[in-house]
Amino acid sequence: METPDRHTDSPARLEQMAAHATRFVECHGPGQAPRLFFSPGRVNLFGGHLDYNGGPVMPTAIDRGTFIASRSRSDRLLRMASAFDHQVVEIDLDQLPAARVSKWVDYPLGVVIELATHLEDSGVALPGGLDVLYGGDLPIGSGLSSSASICVGTAVMLNSLWGLGLGKMDLVRVALRAERQFVGVHCGIMDPYAIGCARAGHLLWLDCKDETIEYLPMDGDRLSILVTNTGVQRALAASEFNRRVDECAQAFDILRLASPGAVCLRDIPLDVLESERGSMDPVLANRAEHVIHEVRRTFEAREHLLAGNPELMGECMNQTHESLRSLYEVSCPELDLLVEAAGHCPGAFGARLTGAGFGGCTVTLVRRGDEHEVQASLEARFEGEFGRCPQVEVYEGDPGPREITPA
Ligand code: GLA
Repeated sequence: METPDRHTDSPARLEQMAAHATRFVECHGPGQAPRLFFSPGRVNLFGGHLDYNGGPVMPTAIDRGTFIASRSRSDRLLRMASAFDHQVVEIDLDQLPAARVSKWVDYPLGVVIELATHLEDSGVALPGGLDVLYGGDLPIGSGLSSSASICVGTAVMLNSLWGLGLGKMDLVRVALRAERQFVGVHCGIMDPYAIGCARAGHLLWLDCKDETIEYLPMDGDRLSILVTNTGVQRALAASEFNRRVDECAQAFDILRLASPGAVCLRDIPLDVLESERGSMDPVLANRAEHVIHEVRRTFEAREHLLAGNPELMGECMNQTHESLRSLYEVSCPELDLLVEAAGHCPGAFGARLTGAGFGGCTVTLVRRGDEHEVQASLEARFEGEFGRCPQVEVYEGDPGPREITPA
C-alpha cells in the first residue's frame, strides 16, 4: 500500500511509535530495530448494517488505531505478541494451523493464511519468519473496527517486510477474507475498505453493491466527530451479527420472488415489502424495512453533506439510530440514552450507534468548537443514569495504514 501523500505524523504519534519500538525490544529482545506501522480504526456515520445488503455506506478512518512493530527472523517462525496481554504465540510458517488458535491472534494469523493461499496460486512460498508486537490506542471490541484495523495493518506490514508487491485492493481483500473465513464473522466489506482506502478529511462513499468508492470532503472547519464509548462489552456481537446477516438473506429470498432483477436486499422497492409483509415473519419484514429506508437515508445524507447542511445530516443519524433500535434491534439502553442526550445539546447535530451495535460506541456530529459542552452534557446524563462516566473523545480523520519512522 503506498504511503499516504502529504501526511506528516504528529510528534505525539511519533513518540507513541517510539515507545512501541521500546516495548518490542523488551518483548522480543535486542537486535535490529523493528519497522513500525500504524493502521487506523474507522467510524461509520451513515449506512448502518447496509454493507452486507449491497447498500451504500459512509465511514471515515480515525486517528486511533493499531501499532505494529516487526522485524525479520533467520528461521521460519512467526512469533506474535500483544502489548495488552504479554502472550507470545509461535507459529511455524511451514505448518500453518488449520483452525483458530486464540482470541486476538486469529486476526493476524488469518491474514498470514490468506496471503499463503494467495501466493500459493502463483507458486510462491511464504518468505521467512518474523517477530511481531501489536499494540495501539483504539478501544478494542467497541464498534470502531479494531479487527479490520489489525487485519489490514498486518497485510500492509507483511506486504512490506516480505516484499510481496501487492496493491492496495489485494491487501484489503486479503484482510476481508481473513475475518470472514478464518475468524468466521460474516462481516460486510465496509471496514477493510474504510481503513485501506482512507483519505484524511473525507468520508468514504462506498457503494457495496458494485464496490465503487468516492471521497466526499468532510467540512472539518465546521464539523467534529465525537465518539462516546458506553463501555458495554459486545458479548453477543458476533453471534447476533451473524444472525442479522442470515435474517437479511432470508428476507431477500422471500422478497426477490416479487422483484425480478433484484440482486440484493438494497434493490427491493418499499411497495414490494409492503405487499409481502402480511405473509412474512414480522422480524424478517422489520429487518428489510430498516435496510430499505436506510438506503434512502444514506443517499439523502450524502446530498446534505454535499450541500453543507449538517442539521439535516444529523436528522438522518437520529432516524438511523431509531431504526437500528426498533426495527433492527441492535441497540441497548446505554446507546439509546447517549443518542437521546445528544438531542438536547444545541451543539450536536445528531447521533447514532456506530458499528454492529449491542454496546460499543455512539458517534455524534458536533459543531466545531462545541465539543467540550457536548461532552460535558453526555457525561453528566450518562453518569446520572448509569453511575459511571463514559469515555468521550473527539476523533480526527486519518490517511490510512502506513509505515512510520520515528525521528
Ligand atoms: C460491523 C461489520 C461491518 C458492518 C457493521 C454494521 O462493524 O464488521 O461490516 O456490517 O457492523 O454497519
